[in-house]
Amino acid sequence: MARAAPRRRQRPLTGAARATGKLRVHGPAASADGFREDVIAGLSLPQKALSPKYFYDAEGSRLFERICRLREYYPTRSELALMRRHLADIARFAGRGVQLIEYGSGASTKTRQLLRALRPAAYVPVDISAAALQSATRRIAREFPWLDVHGVVGDFMQPLRVPALRARSRQRRVVYFPGSTIGNLTHEEAHAFLRMTRSQVGAHGAMLVGVDLKKDANRLHAAYNDAQGVTAAFNLNLLARINRELGGDFDLRRFAHYAFYNASLGRIEMHLVSLAAQRVAIDRHRFRFDVGESVHTENSYKYAVPEFEALARAAGFRAARVWQDGRRDFALFGLTPA
Ligand code: AVJ
Repeated sequence: MARAAPRRRQRPLTGAARATGKLRVHGPAASADGFREDVIAGLSLPQKALSPKYFYDAEGSRLFERICRLREYYPTRSELALMRRHLADIARFAGRGVQLIEYGSGASTKTRQLLRALRPAAYVPVDISAAALQSATRRIAREFPWLDVHGVVGDFMQPLRVPALRARSRQRRVVYFPGSTIGNLTHEEAHAFLRMTRSQVGAHGAMLVGVDLKKDANRLHAAYNDAQGVTAAFNLNLLARINRELGGDFDLRRFAHYAFYNASLGRIEMHLVSLAAQRVAIDRHRFRFDVGESVHTENSYKYAVPEFEALARAAGFRAARVWQDGRRDFALFGLTPA
């Protein structure tokens, strides 16, 4: 997957931060997130590619929540099951009164049990979708009135800068990265991200990472090719979003969802395949598609437990704990600085 364009930094908008009691949301203006530049650059590559972070507009976030409830999509259920099963142990590992930073928090569904068990001093959800973040943080703040919530709209690949947290630098930091969102990153990107997080949590912090595990290719295939076509709609919504927000003229009937397990690279690949030779315009930019040509929209890497342990080790962490669901479909790693 190409991540060609440089990422923008998050800008904690102190003036524009929305405050409601103990809830604050910091984030860049919607227009400042580089969507247009990234789309133009991605569609200009020899292998056309778009970053999966752009799936999550309001409609995409809704479709993703539907994916999580699909019979074929096991990761969400497996991770929830393993959290329920090992919650006390996970909470002991993380410790009480910590600063809990969550990357890709989305609807914060999995976090609820964790917040109850951990009773952190502060919760810092970070998500690319302002809409998802707003509604999730509002609900969390209502449900957990004793908790300090600092939402940050932004890309987790960028270093996190929240002024209010600098003042709390003595609190232990625990980064929570559930959902196998790390699967979107190549091994090199995952390495860099883990290194950055290692320096962020310091010598006494920790990280909890949810990772989808390698398994029978047929089950992997089914999870990304559901019978109801929700994953197809989720994938195609990226083109609809380009039409809505950037004035593109993609004809969605002339593109098809295509997802397969690339066993040699250990990843699901999602593409949108052009069903005809065609031209697409986004403003003044024109893009040609051959029949059968694809736009690569997502990688979803799957790991074996020792493989992820080695990746964590190379980034300066030790996989102190590994929790799994009964079927060993999914793992949560408890990482401590090596
Ligand atoms: C949110 C990146 C973990 O890769 O399984 C679900 C996204 N894409 N179905 C995944 C996704 C297609 C999901 N992650």
